[in-house]
Amino acid sequence: MNLVTSTILVVTIFCIVITKVAGQSETTTAAAVTKEKTNVKESALCKKCICNLDTSLLDCSEKLGQWLSAEEWEILTNGDYEFKTIKLEHNNLTSVAILPKYSVENLYLAYNQIADIADAAFQNLTELSTLDLSHNKLTAKALRPDVFKGRYSENAFEALKNMKSLNLGNNEIHSLDADLFEHIPYLEELILCSNTFQVIDKLTETAISGLTSLKTLDISYLEIEDLPTTVLHGPRDLDDLIASGNLFRQLPEALKYAKNLERLVLDENPIASLEGDNVFPPMTSLRYLRMSYMPYLFKIGTGALSELQNLTELILSDNKVLNEIDELALSKNVTGGRYLDYPPLEHVYLKNCNLTTLPTPLLVRWDKLKTLDLRFNPWSCDTSNDHLINILIQQINKTNPLLANDVLCATPSELKDVTVLRVSNEHLAAGSSGSLIWVGLLVVLLIAIPTILGAYVMKRRGCFGLFNRNENGASRALYNRTSFNEDFHI
Ligand SMILES: *[C@@H]1O[C@H](CO)[C@@H](O)[C@H](O)[C@H]1NC(C)=O
Ligand SMILES: *[C@@H]1O[C@H](CO)[C@@H](O)[C@H](O)[C@H]1NC(C)=O
Ligand SMILES: *[C@@H]1O[C@H](CO)[C@@H](O)[C@H](O)[C@H]1NC(C)=O
Ligand SMILES: *[C@@H]1O[C@H](CO)[C@@H](O)[C@H](O)[C@H]1NC(C)=O
Ligand SMILES: *[C@@H]1O[C@H](CO)[C@@H](O)[C@H](O)[C@H]1NC(C)=O
Ligand SMILES: *[C@@H]1O[C@H](CO)[C@@H](O)[C@H](O)[C@H]1NC(C)=O
Repeated sequence: MNLVTSTILVVTIFCIVITKVAGQSETTTAAAVTKEKTNVKESALCKKCICNLDTSLLDCSEKLGQWLSAEEWEILTNGDYEFKTIKLEHNNLTSVAILPKYSVENLYLAYNQIADIADAAFQNLTELSTLDLSHNKLTAKALRPDVFKGRYSENAFEALKNMKSLNLGNNEIHSLDADLFEHIPYLEELILCSNTFQVIDKLTETAISGLTSLKTLDISYLEIEDLPTTVLHGPRDLDDLIASGNLFRQLPEALKYAKNLERLVLDENPIASLEGDNVFPPMTSLRYLRMSYMPYLFKIGTGALSELQNLTELILSDNKVLNEIDELALSKNVTGGRYLDYPPLEHVYLKNCNLTTLPTPLLVRWDKLKTLDLRFNPWSCDTSNDHLINILIQQINKTNPLLANDVLCATPSELKDVTVLRVSNEHLAAGSSGSLIWVGLLVVLLIAIPTILGAYVMKRRGCFGLFNRNENGASRALYNRTSFNEDFHI
């Protein structure tokens, strides 16, 4: 009896304790959960910076003057919302330390004074896809491969495998470490513009040619005179190459390896002419070519663009001294047949150059063009430019009237600053075949017909008859009747 009671008592107490402990642990977990989630939208951070939950943007540009504080990071890492894009531009940041774990995808650190980045600084940002470090003070020395090191796991460092876009433009870089991209091997976009490379050395070449997933490469304004021949050998899928504002005097030979390139920009390079050996190599995928603001480009010679047989958009505007485009600049004898092949151009821009005439055979189907911008050139309005005056300008007015406005004649002097369209409509062109036809017709009407008639009459009636008719001054009907009668009598 006593034993039973005490057993029940013990069991009861035990149960109570168990329940109590369980309940307690339940309440602690619940408390921890509610404490963890910070309301991001109402947080101090979102009062300081711009928080846009619709676009998932946290914009602290010009708002901090330093890095986010530990408390501010706490708001983010323990928040009820995670931003995909964080902007910290114009904040006088001088270095990047190892950043806390956060699922940001786009991180903008441009326009700071960053000169130093810690090893594995981005290891905890495993979702990071776009990193903008442009307009900082990064040097070749600061850009060690370990900067981009991922997490350490199973005896090795993981790659930052989501990193697709890296902007290092406008820094103080003159060379890249050969292994710089070893931890970010899947880069699809690399921007190096406006750094004083002066030459793409062997190490830089190795770094770039290792990026086999690269689709866009911007190497504008690097002060380079050439590209190493094989630099584009690795990035086989490169679609876009932007190489404006360099010191190329010739087309880089490296282009012949850019087999799959679709868009190429070579603005502002000191190439003077495209002819002879200095013409584009076969680039059959190229659809867009821009060579504008070329200060010395005066001639586009025979075959210069002939190997670009898939070109749909050609932009050669603002080449102030461009004076000559050879009529065989675009065509290619592909089939060996009777007709040449031409690229399927849809948009051609030749604005603001020094062109005077446009050769008809340059392009076989001008009517397929959707855009033809010929404005601000010193056009000749004479026979040498028939095609432009009689056909092209009318077509431009039909398809894109705005582009017809500033197509003006420069010569001959009496047509200076008259629109080519007016010259076309009013047949003003000096000696153009349009007026030649009219002159020819007039000649026929005024000279040939009376002469033939006269000759006929003379043959029938002799000089006297003709003389006789004029002298008599008889009415035409009467004359005709007599003439008929006379003829009848003969
Ligand atoms: C960065 O430094 C400059 C010069 O010291 C200062 O004028 C500017 O306000 C600073 N920027 C921020 C966001 O604090
Ligand atoms: C970043 O990741 C490292 C290793 O993965 C870890 O040791 C560190 O605590 C993390 N830092 C923060 C602030 O989350
Ligand atoms: C030419 O361009 C078209 C698309 O405009 C593309 O489908 C085709 O594959 C290109 N040809 C070559 C040889 O790259
Ligand atoms: C434009 O071409 C003409 C020859 O057609 C040449 O005389 C003139 O100097 C050129 N102008 C410029 C700016 O190169
Ligand atoms: C193309 O080349 C072939 C052989 O080289 C030649 O017979 C043919 O006339 C050329 N076609 C044109 C349009 O020049
Ligand atoms: C340009 O074309 C439009 C119609 O396409 C026509 O009405 C107009 O008169 C043309 N302008 C000139 C100056 O020929």
